[in-house]
Amino acid sequence: MNVEAMLALARHALASAYAPYSQFRVGACLRAASGRLYAGCNVENAAYPVGQCAEATAIGVMIAAGDRAIVEVVVVSEGAALCSPCGRCRQQLAEFAAPETLVHLAGPDGVKVTTTIGVLLPLAFGPEVLPRPEHGGDADS
Ligand code: THU
Repeated sequence: MNVEAMLALARHALASAYAPYSQFRVGACLRAASGRLYAGCNVENAAYPVGQCAEATAIGVMIAAGDRAIVEVVVVSEGAALCSPCGRCRQQLAEFAAPETLVHLAGPDGVKVTTTIGVLLPLAFGPEVLPRPEHGGDADS
């Protein structure tokens, strides 16, 4: 689809990243099944482990807007080193994506690597292995 539009939104989010500790600014953009695009940036914290990745921010924005399915992902960073999603982000993305979902990794010159959620997180742990609640469960939430 239109990866350039996603990359532009990811870069716009990157410009707002709060990364005073690592100086490693990251932007992410998700395309939902609805066609809507959601962007986010990393948000660090003086208590280092509390920091949040760009992908997680974008997921939060998407969920708050009511979408539940990710069909394409762009992650952009500024330097020569690409930002391949960390392990936590892979699990978070997999919750809302399919193994075939494309993940584009971009730098200053554009997309450099395109892979999939299934490649990034093989043998993923997913909701299908959990017992479904018999009473009172809200399947969509
Ligand atoms: N970071 C992301 O935003 N996404 C990732 O998938 C990996 C790392 C951020 C977290 C932190 O603010 C900075 O990059 C350095 O680790």
